[in-house]
Amino acid sequence: PFERVAVFGAGLLMTAFFVAIVVGAFGLGIRVPTCVTDIPPFDQPAVQEVAPGRYVVNVVAQMWAFNPREIRVPAGSLVTFNLVSKDVQHGFQILNTNVNLMAVPGVVNRAQVRFDQPGEYLIVCHEYCGTGHHAMFAKVIVE
Ligand code: CUA
Repeated sequence: PFERVAVFGAGLLMTAFFVAIVVGAFGLGIRVPTCVTDIPPFDQPAVQEVAPGRYVVNVVAQMWAFNPREIRVPAGSLVTFNLVSKDVQHGFQILNTNVNLMAVPGVVNRAQVRFDQPGEYLIVCHEYCGTGHHAMFAKVIVE
């Protein structure tokens, strides 16, 4: 008889927990934590001009590319990079600048730089991230 009580009790508890989850999700609108890459602004990584001569670039790193892949700004721009990763750790170094970041899942890393000299600035991943690591790059084009 006690086995029956235990099994029935366990079934009752599981039903209660399931009902609690359903009520929480649909009735109370409780959302489980999501990935930073699934929410704005990182769901649509892009270059934004926030003021004259000031830009914010939201960058998503993932195996094996950066998005956006090409960043165009006018010479003299002050550019803030917000960097996240969609999968593993990546590096983010902009050659000939002092920008050297890590892209870490769940973390937003930030750097700011002024591009005075026109030209192309290569962005490389400098943290080994798998078989496509050597081909993971992007560039800033300063016009
Ligand atoms: Cu990404 Cu190496």
